[in-house]
Amino acid sequence: MEGKDPVRTELQGEIALVTVDNPPVNALAHGVRAGLVAAIEASEGDPRVKAVVIRAAGRTFPAGADIREFGQPPRDPWLPAVCNRIEACTKPVVAALHGTALGGGLEVALGAHYRIALPSARVGLPEVTLGILPGAGGTQRTPRIAGTAAALDLMLSGKPVGAAHALAIGLIDEIAEGDLTEAALAYAARLVAEGAGPRPTRDRTEGLADVEAARAGIAAARAKVEKEMPHLVAPIRIVSCVEATLDLPFEEGLDRERELFGECVVSDQSVALRHAFFAERRAARVPGLEGVVPREIAAAGVIGGGTMGAGIAVALLQSGLPVTMIERDAESLARGQAAVRAVFDRAVERGRMTAETREQHLRQFEGATDYAALAPVDLAIEAVFEEMEVKREVLGQLDAVLRPGAIIASNTSYLDLDALAAMTSRPADVVGLHFFSPANVMRLLEVVVGAGTAPEVVAAGFALARRLGKVAVRAGVCEGFIGNRMLATYRQAADYMMLDGASPYEIDAALQLFGFAMGPFQVTDLAGGDIGWARRKRLAPTRDPARRYVRVADLLCERGWFGQKTGRGFYLYEKGARRGTPDPEVLAIIEAERAAAGVTPRSFSPEEIVARYLAAMVNEGARLLDEGIALRPSDIDVVKLMGYGFPRHRGGPMKWADLEGLPGVLENLRNFAAAGDAWLWEPAPLLERLVAEGRDLDSLND
Ligand code: 3HC
Ligand code: NAI
Repeated sequence: MEGKDPVRTELQGEIALVTVDNPPVNALAHGVRAGLVAAIEASEGDPRVKAVVIRAAGRTFPAGADIREFGQPPRDPWLPAVCNRIEACTKPVVAALHGTALGGGLEVALGAHYRIALPSARVGLPEVTLGILPGAGGTQRTPRIAGTAAALDLMLSGKPVGAAHALAIGLIDEIAEGDLTEAALAYAARLVAEGAGPRPTRDRTEGLADVEAARAGIAAARAKVEKEMPHLVAPIRIVSCVEATLDLPFEEGLDRERELFGECVVSDQSVALRHAFFAERRAARVPGLEGVVPREIAAAGVIGGGTMGAGIAVALLQSGLPVTMIERDAESLARGQAAVRAVFDRAVERGRMTAETREQHLRQFEGATDYAALAPVDLAIEAVFEEMEVKREVLGQLDAVLRPGAIIASNTSYLDLDALAAMTSRPADVVGLHFFSPANVMRLLEVVVGAGTAPEVVAAGFALARRLGKVAVRAGVCEGFIGNRMLATYRQAADYMMLDGASPYEIDAALQLFGFAMGPFQVTDLAGGDIGWARRKRLAPTRDPARRYVRVADLLCERGWFGQKTGRGFYLYEKGARRGTPDPEVLAIIEAERAAAGVTPRSFSPEEIVARYLAAMVNEGARLLDEGIALRPSDIDVVKLMGYGFPRHRGGPMKWADLEGLPGVLENLRNFAAAGDAWLWEPAPLLERLVAEGRDLDSLND
């Protein structure tokens, strides 16, 4: 990423204008760091220079340290030394911020003596999202200006803030009117004229004035972190670093920061979180699509205004696309349209959307029961009932009315996309766009590529995802694609554990302890047990009678216990409650099923529950890779992280397997297979191959 000359200096009157130029995001790679130090030293030694402005070319002020350098041997100068050198400059240094001044970028700016920013600039310390903490003085300098509370907010949330907020908390001094460079040069000239010298952040104390309040805030933050994220490495250390600003002189505070940063950066969590960062971006690179021009989408149709159709319509409208919703009758249409309106109304009520924006979206939103209304659209996404016959009728209608070249997308969860495509006269235009619920919130989109899908249509799916702010992952055709097919397998593992002796409550608890927000039985209750039930009934005729079948979920559904929405499922729910309590009647049903199956229940430790659940997940993922359904292990990780609540600090199932050690995972699979249900546990050939060659899954990520 290092360009030829990543830092250049030019003299503008009495001001040295230092420009960082390291596309795409001006990450603070070695060349940039060395260049900044050289520029400061040259400016200091040049009698013509009275002040320095540091700015960046291209789209942003440095967006942080170069994440690719973590885990490699450090190269001098380190970023903390760069920030210290800037701060020690004997002439005033102004940082001119635009774009996203994040992490090390903001730390460089805090090393400077004064900061000016465009109104559109955003600043933040997102290190926590990568499992680390600001390691170039950010934990010590931010509180000295903005106070410990604001500093903790920035560092624990990792969320960037806008220029106005940054000004309010003192992190920047001025907002630029007009051209940033001109404004920064004028600011520097003014400082020179006023005789304002350097103003090192390390010497500032205004943020630490109210020590008592700061101590109370830090104690509260510590308690919150210990309660809500006890398993995370970085947040608690961030609190300790901020506390050090009250207890230690600046230099010792920096040492403390360095020590705790070092502990974070070598942790598996940080490795996993950095993997997740790059995995999301890698997913957009699909072999064969380089240079393919996506079909243009300027207007969209959504067929079905239920849970998914309404959410998809909201997502499309929010991206600025006009949307026409088709429903089967006027009443269903009114319901679908009301659902869309309700989402916007809630957003306005909560202050997340202006009333004007809502009206803008609604003006672009039409409804019809006649498919003829779809004649002008470039993309139609069907989200009708998950039944082949219903889809057949809908696809037939779409085929009849859509213009040639318009894209026909299906949101099907499980059905064979090639069979759906064959129902039309134009399989090349058919693609799966598998959204996740709620579709306007969840950022994952599986782009399901059929045997005949045209590359420009696939590219259009990826372009649409970008437009919607979503991450697209390519998937091939099979029952359930990537995410749901894996889900079916590890749910099976959970069901077998339940039949063999673990209660659903023990299973959920073990997986929560691992880091999932919810266990599989809680998820079933939340989503509604009837969804899986319908699928099991559909698959019943083709079920292999030689495989054990666990009937517990069916028995609950037969009683009408569909989960939260009916007040009971695997758990009992007080009216309106989101958290359930264990249900003795469910345990009795499980007991009876064990007896009927001739099972002598045994106990499962939380470790074994996790080992089995994860092994099933990894094994199915490896099968998907073998079959070419998923392109690479990191794509699978993205699907599970973004669509299925896999804990991000574990990096996804495939990264977890690498960190755990692939030989151990394989060994587990072999042992589980030997003990029974071999069809489920039979190791995927890919795992055997990789272990035999001494490789890991990550070696397949490119
Ligand atoms: N290091 C290395 N590469 C980076 C990078 C970084 N800090 N930030 C972005 N990139 C790369 C991306 O991988 C991507 O590469 P690709 O084109 O080969 O896939 C390219 O730059 C463009 O990035 P995006 O696709 O994400 O572009 P967007 O415009 O959507 O987003 C962004 C820009 C908001 C800056 C986003 O990239 C981002 O959030 N970056 C990470 C910011 C961050 O976490 N900074 C803190 C780093 S840790 C640190 O500074 C430690 C210090 O305290 C010591
Ligand atoms: P839903 O039952 O909430 O909505 C389906 C809608 O389609 C209903 O409003 C119905 O009136 C309408 N419809 C039925 N036949 C129609 C026809 N011939 N013409 C026009 N409209 C018709 O179902 P949901 O949950 O929204 O699912 C829709 C699709 O999305 C299914 O294929 C499902 O597998 C898939 N899906 C569902 C997810 C979920 O979490 N609910 C997640 C991802 C995909």
